[in-house]
Amino acid sequence: MRVGILGAGQLGRMLALGGYPLGARFTFLDGKADAPGAQVGKIVLGGFDEPEKIAELARRVDVLTFDVENVPARAVREAGVEALCRPNLAALETGQDRVAEKQSFEALGIPVAPWRAIETADELLAALDELGLPAVLKRRRLGYDGRGQRFIRRREEALEAFGELGGGDLILEAFVEFEREVSMLGVRAASGETRFYPLSENRHDNGILRLSRAPSAPEELAASAREHVGRLMEHFDYVGVLAVEFFVCGGQLYANETAPRVHNSGHWTIEGAVTSQFENHIRAVLDLPLGDTGCVGVSAMANLIGEMPSTPALLAIPGLHLHDYGKSSRPGRKLGHATLVAPDEEALAKPLASLLALAWPAAQARTSAEIVEC
Ligand SMILES: Nc1ncnc2c1ncn2[C@@H]1O[C@H](COP(=O)(O)OP(=O)(O)OP(=O)(O)O)[C@@H](O)[C@H]1O
Ligand SMILES: [Mg+2]
Repeated sequence: MRVGILGAGQLGRMLALGGYPLGARFTFLDGKADAPGAQVGKIVLGGFDEPEKIAELARRVDVLTFDVENVPARAVREAGVEALCRPNLAALETGQDRVAEKQSFEALGIPVAPWRAIETADELLAALDELGLPAVLKRRRLGYDGRGQRFIRRREEALEAFGELGGGDLILEAFVEFEREVSMLGVRAASGETRFYPLSENRHDNGILRLSRAPSAPEELAASAREHVGRLMEHFDYVGVLAVEFFVCGGQLYANETAPRVHNSGHWTIEGAVTSQFENHIRAVLDLPLGDTGCVGVSAMANLIGEMPSTPALLAIPGLHLHDYGKSSRPGRKLGHATLVAPDEEALAKPLASLLALAWPAAQARTSAEIVEC
């Protein structure tokens, strides 16, 4: 069972770590010989836009999957290896374009906040009149961790934001005054069997995920999220893990975006679920039976961003599971994560406060009680 992964980032590394116990072996395509995946698999050095490198990876493996969603589908088609890809390229391409993504949500009856595709400055000003302020202007493609987007609070800011984002190929979204952000991760086998994890509740800072907690109540929201994600997976004849981020506003779900791969908000599943999202993705792409997605307690996962806190300090927190991706420090970069799993919320509160003091001190100073109680 040889799996090829386009991209050797931390997601690829964790896919390999999840798949090794099953007997799977891993080769990655990446531009960097020291990418996190290199710690746990072989690397084919090359770019995602190089069909000959993709073909070289494909010759070494039985199936291809993705650690990054921005692999150009054209290069995969040119390499002649489309049939090996799980999920398929249609799902991948939809996730790469925010407009295509919103159109799929709407076509499948999944609620989204009002939006407009934007090509010109005049279109932007007209769309702002229609959607109102504040609003969020985003690049249609290649955004991640809040990069490639600008919040527009006043009409005067619009043209500057338009220029900064490259002046075209954009989307304007109404700003959602959400109560909470949640995500649903589903996994689908080639047979059409699906399973879903409990809802994760996600806290972002500056567009970057800082904290995920699961399971997140109430059950009616989870049921509706399962229905939406199930419909998307069926529509795309999807194989593997699919993540969908939602805003909760007025007690209703509004889809924000999809990720056609394992997702940061599901990292808690490594220790907090019977089968992790990573193992389940590997099971799905290798056509093995899917694993139990139930949780084994209540979990909290904090990202370690920009600078790693001291390892001994983290490991001194009772029950903490540390994942250090082996990346060098850089502001805003995800370097690792830590997860806590406890029998109930009460037992989680104290170690979580200690973890947040190390992993997210800025927020700790402002809203410690609120974060711990969220
Ligand atoms: N329309 C909106 N209304 C309110 N908040 C928003 C809106 N769009 C984005 N945000 C905030 O910014 C965060 C990042 O936005 P989004 O998920 O679209 O970007 P991203 O760069 O693709 O992030 P990632 O890929 O890391 O999830 C959201 O999780 C949310 O907190
Ligand atoms: Mg997002």
